[in-house]
Amino acid sequence: MQISFVTNAAAGDGAWVVGAMEGGALLPSAVRLDKASGGALTRALKYSRFTGKTGQMLEVLAPAGVKASRLLLVGLGKAESLDEKGLETLGAQIVGRLYTSGEIAARFEIDPPPTSKKGGGKVKKSELAAHLAFGAKLKSYAFDKYRTRNLDEYEKKLKTVRIVTADVAAAKKAHAGLAAVAEGIFLARDLVNEPPNILYPAEFARRAKAQLSKLGVKVEILGEADMKKRGFGALLGVGQGSDRESQLVVMQWNGGPKSKKGKNAAPVALVGKGVCFDSGGLSIKVGAGMQGMKGDMAGAACVTGTMLALATRKAKVNAVGVIGLVENMPDGGAFRPDDVLTSLSGQTIEVLNTDAEGRLVLADALTYTQRRFKPKFLIDLATLTGAIVQTLGYEHAGIFSNDDQLVQRVQAAGRYTGERVWQLPLDPFYDKMIRSKIADMKNIGGGNSGSITAAQFLLRFIEKGTVWAHLDIAGVAWQDGEQKPTIPSWGTGWGVRLLNRLVKDHYEA
Ligand code: BES
Ligand code: MN
Ligand code: ZN
Repeated sequence: MQISFVTNAAAGDGAWVVGAMEGGALLPSAVRLDKASGGALTRALKYSRFTGKTGQMLEVLAPAGVKASRLLLVGLGKAESLDEKGLETLGAQIVGRLYTSGEIAARFEIDPPPTSKKGGGKVKKSELAAHLAFGAKLKSYAFDKYRTRNLDEYEKKLKTVRIVTADVAAAKKAHAGLAAVAEGIFLARDLVNEPPNILYPAEFARRAKAQLSKLGVKVEILGEADMKKRGFGALLGVGQGSDRESQLVVMQWNGGPKSKKGKNAAPVALVGKGVCFDSGGLSIKVGAGMQGMKGDMAGAACVTGTMLALATRKAKVNAVGVIGLVENMPDGGAFRPDDVLTSLSGQTIEVLNTDAEGRLVLADALTYTQRRFKPKFLIDLATLTGAIVQTLGYEHAGIFSNDDQLVQRVQAAGRYTGERVWQLPLDPFYDKMIRSKIADMKNIGGGNSGSITAAQFLLRFIEKGTVWAHLDIAGVAWQDGEQKPTIPSWGTGWGVRLLNRLVKDHYEA
């Protein structure tokens, strides 16, 4: 879908989209269009239930007096509750409606009033136009490469959207950053949606390298031999039962300042769980519980997508992404419950359940990232526990951290983007639950508070001085139920917006 910004309200066929505030008051462009069409909107309003509430729509087909194939009046709700996120949703809802209609081109002439920023000031109209465009773009995502029949049934006909705004240059500028984020989200969604026979660790690594190196990101791939030499005993243990080779991918974007010695200043670090398929291993999952486990690499997908977004918009930050890619399978070489693994950190782990594999992969990735990069902060993302889905459902990711400021920053970015997080506790009491009878720790807690004991496990691999947060994204990485307007696919691409915003707000030079 082609999106552009124009000042000219005149020409163009297709759908003309205008807005009204809650209570039904037409915005200026809607008033103009109403007049031009001989009162088509006011006439239609008389016979409808449209009141201007957010997302409401009123459609007039083939209006007289104007070139449009249809007029679409959309509700923007109350002026005081209109924000960037709301306009994204609206942009997506409009595109959804036009997909249903089979419209090919559209002109958004909504021009919402500037909205108040939280903490004072106004969000500029050009910004609002950019977010409307961003929402429209997010809705245009589709993962249909494996459909071969009845293609017209799935075809999205809407090809061009022109957004009318007074300051085209400012809107384009605001939109450029968001368009980069959309690319990152689309990459993350593609990776999560791909079936596991296609996207195994080496293929994931190849795609990350292909997509990122052309943007100036340095991408290194470590295979099993490399990792064995270095002592990645926990990560390699998980991959042992699979025919597919485990991989570690290290991505570096150096858009930020150099330190006095000419070296790159400490980077922000993102670490992702990349279990390309989680069968549970020998502690095998039941059939229903195994479905969807192609998505168990969503943390790694988010890290890769975020790196793509940062590099595409040339963010002034030094960022590293490290992802541990494995497949958890139960062949004759598989690691067993009762095995003891020696991690890269030197700490030993008694494996009591091979299905608690994500924390093993992360453990070594965390150690490697901290020792090599000494990051400013480190955030890991993982579809780590089913327990977080029971706790928080689908609306929040769980956040665990050793640093309150980092939590507050992530929470604020979450409120802005709609990718919200909820903090859960860490406490020595929970740490006791992973004591092992024979090794430094065991990989499960036993019974209750499963998301917390998983986080306590990770904390054991956080070194002195590292500012760290862990996001358990098992409930938000994919959606089996109702789809959100801006997320028209199973894989959500969750986290790219959040992390991009976090960097933009606090860590860019
Ligand atoms: N990948 C799963 C967690 C998961 C479950 C993600 C459901 C998304 C939806 C993880 O590797 C796992 O299997 N965790 C176990 C841990 C248990 C064995 C301690 C779980 O949550 O059951
Ligand atoms: Mn598992
Ligand atoms: Zn898993």
